[in-house]
Amino acid sequence: MEAIIRTGDGGPEVLQLGEVPPPQPTETQLLVDVHATALNRADTIQRRGGYPPPPGESEILGLEIAGTVSAMGSAVDGVTTGDRVFGLVGGGGYAAQAVIDYRMAMPIPDEWSFEQAAAVPEVFFTANENIFTLGELSADETILIHAGGSGVGSAGVQISHHAGAKVFVTAGTSEKIERCKALGAVEGINYKTTDFTTEVKRLTDGAGIDVVLDFIGAPYLERNLSILKTQGRLLQVGLIGGSTAEINLGVVMRNRLKIIGSVMRPQSIAEKIAITQRFGERWLPKLKRGTLQPVIDTIFPLAEARQAHEYMEANRNFGKILLKVK
Ligand SMILES: NC(=O)c1ccc[n+]([C@@H]2O[C@H](COP(=O)([O-])OP(=O)(O)OC[C@H]3O[C@@H](n4cnc5c(N)ncnc54)[C@H](OP(=O)(O)O)[C@@H]3O)[C@@H](O)[C@H]2O)c1
Repeated sequence: MEAIIRTGDGGPEVLQLGEVPPPQPTETQLLVDVHATALNRADTIQRRGGYPPPPGESEILGLEIAGTVSAMGSAVDGVTTGDRVFGLVGGGGYAAQAVIDYRMAMPIPDEWSFEQAAAVPEVFFTANENIFTLGELSADETILIHAGGSGVGSAGVQISHHAGAKVFVTAGTSEKIERCKALGAVEGINYKTTDFTTEVKRLTDGAGIDVVLDFIGAPYLERNLSILKTQGRLLQVGLIGGSTAEINLGVVMRNRLKIIGSVMRPQSIAEKIAITQRFGERWLPKLKRGTLQPVIDTIFPLAEARQAHEYMEANRNFGKILLKVK
């Protein structure tokens, strides 16, 4: 089958279209003819040699798929060949075929394209798990979402706003800020021109923020802690700016703060099935109705995965970058 293979660890130029043997589904897996997959920032780390797939998962990049079922293992229940499905995978999305555990495969709503479906799992799962399951954001609270124009940010802004919370974002351009406001943010801060701690304090009349969703890491850690209210929660889900920092633990103790980290990929199948179900119950009906929408920036053909990675690493996207496979 056709797939994007890595000729080594490095820049986008290591990604090339090639031929590899198709995956074989286990007892509980579906073999899916992939029509669309999506980029995630983590793919760029894997491309450079980091963020390895969990044992037994494909070495091919790609954490989410949408396509049609072409075969299945003997223990699969309730799925038929030809069904349109989408979901999270441990790897292998940038390919003509991929495998997914049937309990993580969700039916694609009739009115959705494969591209719409492929834009949903990773960012909505990540946003829901962190903001609500771990961060326990409630309707009367405030949240600051850094990189509001990222794939995860664009999902996080929508679901936080929908839950009734007051949403603030940071982003690197005024255009991204305006688009975050269109998704439900009340205010945006251009981190390139304005210190977000000063601005958050001004915007909240000195009260601060209940929950911060952060992807930047080390350079933001101390500042994130400084704007949290008593019993505030910092959700650390990315380390774009670095991973090692020094903080004053006195602030954490005095203000009874929680710093919570999480990574989706290495979690067990049982945990990922539960994550899929929590998303399916709370947000999928709203996505089906169009109350919430996956934000798609650009669709590249699979063969142009290299250009898609260059585009992502230039921080040009607002929302998701898709790869059309078929
Ligand atoms: N823990 C998990 O389970 C999990 C799951 C999914 C994603 N993630 C993480 O979530 C983050 C977002 O992923 P994504 O795929 O949605 O990303 P994305 O669409 O590529 O967006 C990332 C955005 O971050 C901003 N950015 C880049 N470098 C920055 C810097 N040094 N300082 C401030 N902002 C910067 C850029 O927007 P501006 O133009 O605004 O600068 C960029 O467009 C990544 O760190 C990813 O690894 C974690």
